[in-house]
Amino acid sequence: MNLIAALSMFALTLGPSFIYSESEEPERLLVKMTLVQEASSLGAYCLDGSLPAYHLHRGFGAGEHNWLLQFEGGGWCNDIKSCLERAQTRRGSTSYMNKWEVFSGILSNNASLNPDFYNWNRVKLRYCDGASFAGDAKFDNGTSLLYFRGQRIWQAIIFDLLRKGLGNAKKALLSGCSAGGLASFLHCDNFTGYLPRNTSVKCLSDAGFFLEVRDISLNHTIRSFYEDLISLQGVQQNLDKNCTTSCYYPDQCFFPQYALPYIRTPFFILNSAYDVYQFHHILVPPNADPLGHWYHCKLNPAACSTNQINILQGFRKYMLAALSFFFEFSRRGGMFINSCFAHCQSESQDTWFAADSPRVHNKTIAEAVGDWYFGRRVTKEIDCAYPCDTTCHNLIG
Ligand SMILES: *[C@@H]1O[C@H](CO)[C@@H](O)[C@H](O)[C@H]1NC(C)=O
Ligand SMILES: *[C@@H]1O[C@H](CO)[C@@H](O)[C@H](O)[C@H]1NC(C)=O
Ligand SMILES: *[C@@H]1O[C@H](CO)[C@@H](O)[C@H](O)[C@H]1NC(C)=O
Ligand SMILES: *[C@@H]1O[C@H](CO)[C@@H](O)[C@H](O)[C@H]1NC(C)=O
Ligand SMILES: *[C@@H]1O[C@H](CO)[C@@H](O)[C@H](O)[C@H]1NC(C)=O
Ligand SMILES: *[C@@H]1O[C@H](CO)[C@@H](O)[C@H](O)[C@H]1NC(C)=O
Ligand SMILES: *[C@@H]1O[C@H](CO)[C@@H](O)[C@H](O)[C@H]1NC(C)=O
Repeated sequence: MNLIAALSMFALTLGPSFIYSESEEPERLLVKMTLVQEASSLGAYCLDGSLPAYHLHRGFGAGEHNWLLQFEGGGWCNDIKSCLERAQTRRGSTSYMNKWEVFSGILSNNASLNPDFYNWNRVKLRYCDGASFAGDAKFDNGTSLLYFRGQRIWQAIIFDLLRKGLGNAKKALLSGCSAGGLASFLHCDNFTGYLPRNTSVKCLSDAGFFLEVRDISLNHTIRSFYEDLISLQGVQQNLDKNCTTSCYYPDQCFFPQYALPYIRTPFFILNSAYDVYQFHHILVPPNADPLGHWYHCKLNPAACSTNQINILQGFRKYMLAALSFFFEFSRRGGMFINSCFAHCQSESQDTWFAADSPRVHNKTIAEAVGDWYFGRRVTKEIDCAYPCDTTCHNLIG
């Protein structure tokens, strides 16, 4: 990636805000990073104290006044040790990030690759707080310093974009993948609150429907991970109040399945029923499989035993059950729950919109999301169970 490294240097000096790289078959759109200078007055810093950032590619033509905001993903850090490590990587500091990002899939500016959103203003919000843009705390013991300012980063970026035209948006879509898909659930109504009443606002989560589920050793792996995260980074104060006052325990509202009924903005849920991240880290985390019985199955679903497949089918059923209320009663909601072994399907061109991309009922993800956003038809697609779907790429990585 010498080209990107060279461009990163270039970005620091004056230059265009986007460029096409010619390194691979079709042209790739690279968009320059913008640091949010005003963030410091809000105390909005990445883990290491660096300024937060986004990448903006301007809309044009009929999309000139429409805005798509996409939260970057990348896991979480839930203790001091892992956050200190993260602070010295691209996941916790804009100093270590690529200064140019490839815009593809839902972020592409090419109508034949991204038919409904190509001409919108498209923004990628860089993730550097480690708590899905939702924490507000600080760690300082004299020798180590960490900023847990995700919620402030979110606000600093919104304030900056409102001035750049988001405040006059005609249409808006808040999206994100993985930890960014979770951020989309957590900030959806807050986003709507910043926009004019007559703006059409909707939200989408890609691979962000993390389930509260026990792992195969019956431990509450993800629940305890999130509890540590919420307490370390001061997330609870930023969870939906209507949810936290009605739930079994307040931290539950970090899980989309409990927060979803309280979200008033129209929502689209894109997820695989066999989400690879959840499979590998939540359902079968390494601790729960010390002898490596799942090793081959994790690499290739065709190598799973009957018992393992049954466990995966149970996971799918649980996900569909958690979504059944939404499926039945959300009039303005949409969904696309396919059965491919994948994680994040909107940002890569292969899975978003291509001749051989995954389909449910012969519809691609880009078509499903577009149909829902523009109200062309009701879009609640649920795939048949593995291994029926022949359009999958089964991207296990
Ligand atoms: C848009 O994508 C199509 C299909 O990959 C390609 O043929 C075309 O050259 C692209 N157009 C631009 C302007 O990059
Ligand atoms: C501060 O915290 C770090 C990380 O936990 C630890 O290594 C260090 O010893 C602590 N310093 C003090 C003065 O307690
Ligand atoms: C919303 O209302 C304002 C003020 O009346 C108007 O200028 C703007 O064009 C409207 N926007 C949309 C999307 O209708
Ligand atoms: C968004 O959330 C923040 C933090 O909870 C809050 O201070 C702010 O008022 C909210 N904004 C809107 C428009 O609801
Ligand atoms: C809670 O729900 C009520 C009624 O639906 C609504 O008016 C209020 O804005 C909600 N509060 C929050 C924080 O979402
Ligand atoms: C399950 O959780 C308990 C308590 O947190 C822990 O001691 C045990 O090691 C965990 N077991 C596995 C297999 O992770
Ligand atoms: C599926 O959709 C494509 C266009 O995206 C169309 O050409 C094809 O005929 C459709 N197949 C079926 C079985 O409907």
